[in-house]
Amino acid sequence: MGLGSYRSPVTTSRRDASARRGFLPTVSASGAIGRYNPSMRPNVLRALESEDRIPFVDLTPANAAVKARILDRIAQTIDTGDFVNGAAVRQFELAFADRTGCHHCVGVSSGLDALRLSLEATGLERGDCVVVPAATFAATFEAVLQADGLPVVVDVNDDDYTLDVRQTQDAAASASHLVPVHLYGQMADMRALAGVARANEVTILEDACQAHGASRDGIGPGGLARSAAFSFYPSKNLGAMGDAGALVTDDGSLADRVRALRSHGETDKYHHEYVGYTARLDTLQAIVLLEKLPLLEKWNGQRGAAAAYYMEALAGLDGLRLPRQAEGSAPVWHLFVVRVSEPKRFAAFLANRGIETGRHYPQPPHLSPAYRDLGFGPGDFPVAEALAREGVSLPLYPGIGEAQLERVCDAVVAYVREL
Ligand SMILES: Cc1ncc(COP(=O)(O)O)c(C=O)c1O
Repeated sequence: MGLGSYRSPVTTSRRDASARRGFLPTVSASGAIGRYNPSMRPNVLRALESEDRIPFVDLTPANAAVKARILDRIAQTIDTGDFVNGAAVRQFELAFADRTGCHHCVGVSSGLDALRLSLEATGLERGDCVVVPAATFAATFEAVLQADGLPVVVDVNDDDYTLDVRQTQDAAASASHLVPVHLYGQMADMRALAGVARANEVTILEDACQAHGASRDGIGPGGLARSAAFSFYPSKNLGAMGDAGALVTDDGSLADRVRALRSHGETDKYHHEYVGYTARLDTLQAIVLLEKLPLLEKWNGQRGAAAAYYMEALAGLDGLRLPRQAEGSAPVWHLFVVRVSEPKRFAAFLANRGIETGRHYPQPPHLSPAYRDLGFGPGDFPVAEALAREGVSLPLYPGIGEAQLERVCDAVVAYVREL
């Protein structure tokens, strides 16, 4: 769903109004918004200050909404013993396929497995070249190498930090697969990339691990690719309470093959058609995901509203670069990454005001020791490297309150004024 359909919860005039009223907004550890009065005793103030920390991510508001129902269903599962490939797995797969508009969903144990098994099941052969973006989480590279492919790294564009289409065109000629990553919840230009893939007879597998519910040109993950891989790591837009993942596809034979690969390569009980893995979606995690899925749209809306707040309150500040959004793109704001020239100083400045931030990701995979053998060095992918050097993620999660957003913005404004 599009960001355009959300309204920012707060206007600048309300920010001014809180200042005029002369009291400071506070946030309790549980995320509830309260206010304190300057006449309070200092020891009370100190206690409030320690509660006043704004976490980078707080899963408690979202989890609280589903906790009771999850506990009930887990209790039932303990009674029935339906632990592996239990009914909830299939139910979640059907619900998630429906949510993404794809014919099939196969639940697996992580986003990494969704990517790796998709690569294997779509015929990747040893040494085949797979185009991946330089700005991503390491798992995109891991999946390719674990499937015996060779990552062909392409820089990202300087707007939404997804695969640069022109450079992808050059790299695709020698590749068997393209793996666009929808970084921070914004989709890559899938229409253009699908054209590149068609022209070069290359298979596209989307890394949608940060993009549950995102779309571009009205099309979501899985719409223009052979499959899309999702992670349900707890802090994702749709998060389990442990590790979990899934892929969606319209290709029934690909779904069947991944279904076999996730469970020892079995196509029938004790008939091992492939060398497989133990990579199933855990039943207890499927229960969590089933309960959370109906709330995804609402939570994405809250993320969108928080992002809109930041965009409005932080617009036009010198020394701070805000995220950019491509035309037709409806991001789901998994992360809200701003850029500053001295990210450590910026993070310390906010930390001094009780505000936690994140770095996603300070070391791009091509400069990480694990991928040294690929032979890349500093300067090879300048856009991704600049993002890694300068990017800082601001607090953003469903349930983040107006007072918290206001405090983050006030701190950011104070930082840039000091520059
Ligand atoms: C872009 C991207 N790809 C892949 C993954 C891997 O997912 P998982 O941690 O579930 O294996 C992640 C998870 O953080 C991710 O952000």
